[in-house]
Amino acid sequence: MTDLPTLDSLDVAGRTVLVRADLNVPLDHGAVADDFRIVASLPTITKLHERGAKVVVCSHLGRPKGPDPALVMDPVARRLGELGGFPVIKLDAVAGPEVTAAVKAAPQDAVIMLENTRFEPGEKANDPALADGLAALADVFVNDAFGSAHRAHASTVGVAERLPSVAGDLLRAEVEALSRLLEDPARPYVVVLGGAKISDKLGVMRQLLPRVDMMLVGGGMCFTLLAAKGYEVGASLLEESMIIEVGSLLVSEHGDKILLPTDVVVAERFAADAPHRVVAATQIPEGTMGLDIGPETVTRFSEVLGTAASVFWNGPMGVFEWEAFRAGTAGVARAVADSSGFTVIGGGDSVAAIRMLGLENEVSHVSSGGGAGLEMLEGKTLPGIAALGR
Ligand code: 3PG
Ligand code: MG
Repeated sequence: MTDLPTLDSLDVAGRTVLVRADLNVPLDHGAVADDFRIVASLPTITKLHERGAKVVVCSHLGRPKGPDPALVMDPVARRLGELGGFPVIKLDAVAGPEVTAAVKAAPQDAVIMLENTRFEPGEKANDPALADGLAALADVFVNDAFGSAHRAHASTVGVAERLPSVAGDLLRAEVEALSRLLEDPARPYVVVLGGAKISDKLGVMRQLLPRVDMMLVGGGMCFTLLAAKGYEVGASLLEESMIIEVGSLLVSEHGDKILLPTDVVVAERFAADAPHRVVAATQIPEGTMGLDIGPETVTRFSEVLGTAASVFWNGPMGVFEWEAFRAGTAGVARAVADSSGFTVIGGGDSVAAIRMLGLENEVSHVSSGGGAGLEMLEGKTLPGIAALGR
């Protein structure tokens, strides 16, 4: 992974460069709610702009099934311009003769943003016509979208196969950081997983278990694990169809590396102001739902994290957006921040949590990727990276 072709090998002055960034950010009432990914993508865009390239930026936003007025790139383009201190020309299509003409007509010092790539049906299918259309816009392709590197789409893989293509600075930094965990992590190597759905993470758990020394599990997903151990989980999130598979993972060769909560915060309903209390994870009362890990679990997880030499954390421990159910995520965040080991945090929610607590400078690397980081740590080849430099 160290032989990635990079920006620095490129002469871009007077040329047009297409940058695929991952600007898939949360929106709130049509405005950017969290600009972490825009900030992270800015250095590559700025560098190219300052070196005299005409910069064409593209990204997906959300998961639209087709054109969707709620997911146009305009608010993202506006925020990019504010952060970068340069005007951003927003085009209302992804590719095609009119886009090509508009890019050609723009001045050499322009920064241009294309429309949401997922408005095009050919994006996810890596349709050759769309990839041709994107490639027609530029002389060179820079992929800086680490968060989308696990997607073999027209704007990540298709265009990379059609233009001279290199990794942007963000993509390169991500690969360098995650490679340290993938290739020869300092041990003990502890992974913390959370988030709502076990069905999203079971494959990752299976792949990561042989590579790690300990796996701490919280979040909504832990209740299916507790249920698979035979405990009642009350009204907690439960994916019943997964219980058998989860149970077989728990008793598999590396299953004993999984550490589950011993206590949880339960609430009477799913609401910020719901009455709540701490109970043993083995005795969740009927009709109550676990919305966070409990204090004893935080202490135990923190002890394990205190001994770790490498840490990767993805997924919150509870409903951290609500203060009553924030202590578990906050406690894990603090323990990761306090660790003297090499610490990496990935996934939108965990990153939002660490930033909310102001601890983002206390970890070694805050990743802009969610699923991409997990897939990389599983040892999978990420198509967006493999396609570069051909
Ligand atoms: C993410 O948010 O994980 C990336 O932007 C990828 O988005 P996707 O899961 O919709 O492909
Ligand atoms: Mg995702």
